[in-house]
Amino acid sequence: MSQDLDHRPSVLFVCLGNICRSPAAEGVLRTLLAAEGLDREVEVDSAGTLGEHVGEPADARMRAAAAARGYELTSRARRVEPADLDRFDLVVAMDRDNLDELRRLADSPRARLALFSDFLPGGEPRDVPDPYYGGPRGFEKVLDLLEHGCPALLEELLAARSR
Ligand code: 4NP
Repeated sequence: MSQDLDHRPSVLFVCLGNICRSPAAEGVLRTLLAAEGLDREVEVDSAGTLGEHVGEPADARMRAAAAARGYELTSRARRVEPADLDRFDLVVAMDRDNLDELRRLADSPRARLALFSDFLPGGEPRDVPDPYYGGPRGFEKVLDLLEHGCPALLEELLAARSR
């Protein structure tokens, strides 16, 4: 994390397709920031390790589940690139496979690479489960986990701002 006082902290969420979990993480954190009047204080983005869905909006099932909880998902899918790992302060993988992919992208990234579950009480479950091939409960589970972990993640980002 950067040490300069005026630094605007930045976080990139990464999943496989960038159409379900990481856009939802982006939406939950953005909403939390807005509720606290901090929208301009933190940069938030998301990306995927897979190129398959580049340019697409978030999956309609994920958007509907998020909207029902008051989150608007506005992202368009893009693929994570090595430069992201130097540009962002914190890069948060949704599961261990995504984290392995990120580690393959750069030998010594400037960003701190983390698992989303690092921000969950007890660090469990280790992975935010991929909801893409499952039923509606999978999307709710993703949102439950994101709502549990995002406050701690935000606290860490804001602490980095004042260090
Ligand atoms: P995400 O979900 O990684 O949470 O965006 C997926 C989206 C698409 C695919 C897999 C997971 N896919 O195989 O196309």
